[in-house]
Amino acid sequence: MTEKSAKPYSKLKIAAAYFRYRFKGLTKHGVHSPKVFEFMEEVLDRTSKSRNRKIERERKRLKASKQIIDFTDFGKSGNLFKKNVSDIAKNALKPKKYARLIAQTVNYYKATSVLELGTSLGITTAYIAQNKHVKVHSMEGDPTVADIATTIWQHLGYKNITTTIGDFNATLGSLGDKTYDIIYIDGNHRLEPTLRYFEQLQQHAHEKTLFIFDDIHYSPQMEKAWETIKANDSVRITVDLFFLGYVFIDKTLPKQDFTLRY
Ligand SMILES: C[S@@+](CC[C@H](N)C(=O)[O-])C[C@H]1O[C@@H](n2cnc3c(N)ncnc32)[C@H](O)[C@@H]1O
Repeated sequence: MTEKSAKPYSKLKIAAAYFRYRFKGLTKHGVHSPKVFEFMEEVLDRTSKSRNRKIERERKRLKASKQIIDFTDFGKSGNLFKKNVSDIAKNALKPKKYARLIAQTVNYYKATSVLELGTSLGITTAYIAQNKHVKVHSMEGDPTVADIATTIWQHLGYKNITTTIGDFNATLGSLGDKTYDIIYIDGNHRLEPTLRYFEQLQQHAHEKTLFIFDDIHYSPQMEKAWETIKANDSVRITVDLFFLGYVFIDKTLPKQDFTLRY
């Protein structure tokens, strides 16, 4: 087997792949699975277009920030270097279309516990935490971005978020016997760690837990990770939304893979 690259695809390649995805992605008329039809009607179609003004104001402020921080890149070299907060806000955070989708997923499935791997500046975390019935636990390697995120959540008045700081390799073991309704994996976009986290997090999942993987078409390694996850025996229904991959592990479901237009 040839070694897959961890390097992200070029913008042009991603655009071409996205175009192919938009062309082949199924709409509601092509879906015969009741579970997936329900997901399309209740989650994809009902995702709020509301402006989430307060959170988006924070994002805007971060994008305009002149602050330069010392940032340790656990997802790549593990080295410490200078980084503009504005660049992180522009490049690392899920855009509002997908942050809203994750929030709607949490709301529709009535999740009360969500685990997020990769807090960064905490914008997607904030979207999830809008629902006061949810307790969000977010994990992040770099303490400085996590501090900025915490300040943002304080501004927004969210008290339902807890964090763990440190390399996932060291911190995942601290989750004890807790299980989560939704586990969102958005940190360290490489093949081996992604598969290892998925394996390790099985002990924090219950029958109905939904896993959400970020950027499944970001690089050859992430595509390989997505294909491997789809083939995993514990996985039942998968939904490819191009920038996110949903994984249902409920044993009562058939094993099926879908690509849905979103
Ligand atoms: C893409 S960002 C998360 C974005 C965030 N979920 C959002 O949408 O707003 C990924 C984050 O994961 C963190 N990360 C990557 N690898 C890590 C590791 N091995 N341990 C801890 N944190 C890690 C990075 O520091 C980075 O802040």
